[in-house]
Amino acid sequence: MPYSGHMPTPKGVGSSPLTGLSARLLVLTIFFVMLSEVFIYAPSIGRYRLVYMEERIAAAHLAALATASPEGGAMSPRLTAEILEHARSHRIVCRSTSELKTLVGEASLKIDEIYDLREAAFFPLIWEAFLVLGRGGNRIIEVVGPSPRAPETLVRTVIDEAPMRYEMLGYSERILFLSIVISLITATLVYISLQLLFVRPMLGITESMIAFRADPEDARYSVAPSSRTDEIGRARRELASMQSALRQALRQRSRLAALGTAVTKINHDLRNILASAQLVSDHIRVSPDPRVRQIAPTLLGALDRAIKLCSQTLAFAHDGELPPSHTRFDLRPLVEEVVGDLGETGPEGARFVCRVPQDFAVEADRDQLRRVLTNLILNAYQATAKTVSIGASLANGSVTIEIADDGPGLPEPARARLFEPFSGSSRIGGTGLGLSIARDLMRGHGGDVRLAASGETGTVFEVVLPAEAAPAAR
Ligand SMILES: Nc1ncnc2c1ncn2[C@@H]1O[C@H](COP(=O)(O)OP(=O)(O)OP(=O)(O)O)[C@@H](O)[C@H]1O
Ligand SMILES: [Mg+2]
Repeated sequence: MPYSGHMPTPKGVGSSPLTGLSARLLVLTIFFVMLSEVFIYAPSIGRYRLVYMEERIAAAHLAALATASPEGGAMSPRLTAEILEHARSHRIVCRSTSELKTLVGEASLKIDEIYDLREAAFFPLIWEAFLVLGRGGNRIIEVVGPSPRAPETLVRTVIDEAPMRYEMLGYSERILFLSIVISLITATLVYISLQLLFVRPMLGITESMIAFRADPEDARYSVAPSSRTDEIGRARRELASMQSALRQALRQRSRLAALGTAVTKINHDLRNILASAQLVSDHIRVSPDPRVRQIAPTLLGALDRAIKLCSQTLAFAHDGELPPSHTRFDLRPLVEEVVGDLGETGPEGARFVCRVPQDFAVEADRDQLRRVLTNLILNAYQATAKTVSIGASLANGSVTIEIADDGPGLPEPARARLFEPFSGSSRIGGTGLGLSIARDLMRGHGGDVRLAASGETGTVFEVVLPAEAAPAAR
C-alpha cells in the first residue's frame, strides 16, 4: 500500500501552526501588502490634496461669476459674505484678460502660505500633503490657479487649511481600512493555497521519510508517486523511486546474506570431501602405471588448491576476504600453470598465446592472481574464443596484464552491470560472480580489473597491479 498521508502523524513531523511555513508567509504577506499600500497611498494623498484645491479654485470662480449683477451695481457686504462662505473662502480674486473681480470678506487677513497650482509637481505634492497631515491647528492659505472652466482666468482664493486636513485624514482612514481588509484576504488566500499546494504534500513526504527510516523494508510506507508536474511532484517521484531502489537493495542484501550462510555450510562439507579425496589420491603417486603417476602432481595440486579455496571462503564468511599475502614471482610460469590447469576446458581447437616477457616479475598474492587469471581466461573460453592471448607491461608504476580474446564480444545485457555480483551474467549456468570476485581481489591489491575493449572481433580485459605492493597491504 503506497503511503499517501493517511497514517497517524509521526511525532515531531507537523510544526506548530504559529511557527510553520504558512504562518510565516501569512505574516509576510500582510506586511508586503501593507508596504505596497504605502507606496500607493503616498502619491494618492498628494493627488487628493491637489484635487481638493482645484475644487476650491472652481468653486471660487463660480462664486465670482455669481457676483455679476445684471444692474452692474456693487454687491451688499451681506451677500458677499454669504457667497464667500458658500465657496468656503475668505477672499476671491479672479483676473481674466478683460476683467478683474474681487470678493473680499475680512480685510485684514494674514496669509500663512501661498500655493500656486501651476507649479504643482509630483514629489513636492506628496511631501506637502504629509506636512499638512502632520500639522495641528489651522492656517490660512492662498491657492492660486487657472479656473478649470476658463483656463485663461487666473483665480486666487484664500481658504482655511484645517477642513482640507480633516478630509485628507478621512481619506487616509478609508485607505488604511481597505489595506487591512485586502491584506487579510490576500494573506488568507496565500495561507490556504500554501497549505494545499505545499505544506500538506511536504508533510506527507516527511511522514513517509520518517516511517521509512524507522522500517525501511515495510513497503506500506512507500510514498505514492504523484502525477503532479511541479517540484513537489518531482520530489515525490524521486523519493518513491529512491525508496523502491533502497528496498530492493536491502532485499538483495538479505538474500546474499542467506546465500552466504548456505555457501559457507556447503564449503565446509566440500572441504571435508576434498580432504578425503586428497587422502585417497596420495596413493596414485605410487601407482605402477607411469601415466597415472604422471598426472598425480597436477591432480594433487588441484585438490590442494581446492581445499585452500574452501578454507579461505570459510574464513571470508567469518571476517571478509583475506588480505593478499604478497610475494615476488615470475608471471609467465603462473600464466602457463593456469592454462595447463584449464586444460581441455576451452573450445575445440582453441589456441593460447602467452606474450608475457621472460623474467617479467610481479609482486602480488600468487594464489589470488591465479584465481583472477583463471576467471578471465575461463570467461574467454566460455565465450567460445578461438584464441586467447595474455601480455604484460610495466608503465607509470603499474603492471598491466592484458587478457585478449577473439570471441564474439560482451553480450549487451552483460555490459551494464558487468562487475556486480550475481548481476552481470548472461551465460546459461553462469553465476555472475567471476568478474566481481576478480575485481575485488585486485582492488584488495590496490589495483583493478577493467574492461578495455569489446566488440565483434573480441574482448580485452586488463588486470592492473601496483608495480610494488603498498607497505600497508603487505
Ligand atoms: N571474454 C568474454 N567474452 C564475452 N563475454 C564475456 C567475457 N567475459 C565475460 N563475459 C560475459 O560477462 C558475463 C559475466 O561474467 P562473470 O565471469 O562475472 O560471470 P559468469 O562467467 O557468467 O559466471 P561465473 O560466476 O561462473 O564466472 C558472462 O556471463 C559473459 O556473458
Ligand atoms: Mg565467469
